[in-house]
Amino acid sequence: MDRRHFLKTGFVGVGTMVLPGNSWALKYYPTPSEKKWAVLYGTWCGSSRDAAVWISEGMGGIANVFDVRENPDLKGFDHVIVGGSIRSGVTPDELREYLKKNAQWLKDKVRGLFAVCGNMRRPVGPEQTAAFIDDHLAKLCGVAGVPSKVFLGRITKSLMDPQTARTMEKMEDYDNLHRSECMTFGREVLDSVTRVSPAQPTAR
Ligand SMILES: Cc1cc2nc3c(=O)[nH]c(=O)nc-3n(C[C@H](O)[C@H](O)[C@H](O)COP(=O)(O)O)c2cc1C
Repeated sequence: MDRRHFLKTGFVGVGTMVLPGNSWALKYYPTPSEKKWAVLYGTWCGSSRDAAVWISEGMGGIANVFDVRENPDLKGFDHVIVGGSIRSGVTPDELREYLKKNAQWLKDKVRGLFAVCGNMRRPVGPEQTAAFIDDHLAKLCGVAGVPSKVFLGRITKSLMDPQTARTMEKMEDYDNLHRSECMTFGREVLDSVTRVSPAQPTAR
């Protein structure tokens, strides 16, 4: 085997060894910012991932966005927004486990909470905020009174595992998640922090 062919084969081999472990990693390149922001999400079929990215976009793209399945180390971040999709009234196991394990240090950094639910395609109200934010995510994070939002999500049966898709057989796919609402929430969270620290008007 000539040297060029050997190197090429070698790189392909290394690539296939390394990539599968990171196959769900969303590479997001935030806009530089004085303060480090992160959005952490838990999702099944991606609605909370998209909400998280759009929340960051509402903040001018300064927040890095992490899937909880990557088990990210967020200790180096100043501000964290946490959110997740809802099935049977709760967020994914991985998110709940992560929050329980990391609540001790995370509680001082959580600046916003969000949930993405179906709510039988009806508008969300105080009942959903109480169930998914106050009695669920806020408790898991050990925080109270931070800005929060419950978004309506979507159903994409082709992205579900076959067993779950079968339970949804009678339901049509739908999409009620709106980028503009997610962006508005991102701005609200950012404003809530910059309002609290008037001594640093440019810090975000
Ligand atoms: C199996 C299953 C259970 C669900 N349970 C609830 C629920 O208890 N309450 C609710 O409001 N929405 C519920 N939904 C709707 C989801 O929250 C909504 O479709 C969300 O956008 C899914 O997020 P994902 O894209 O991360 O899967 C459920 C959806 C599925 C597929």
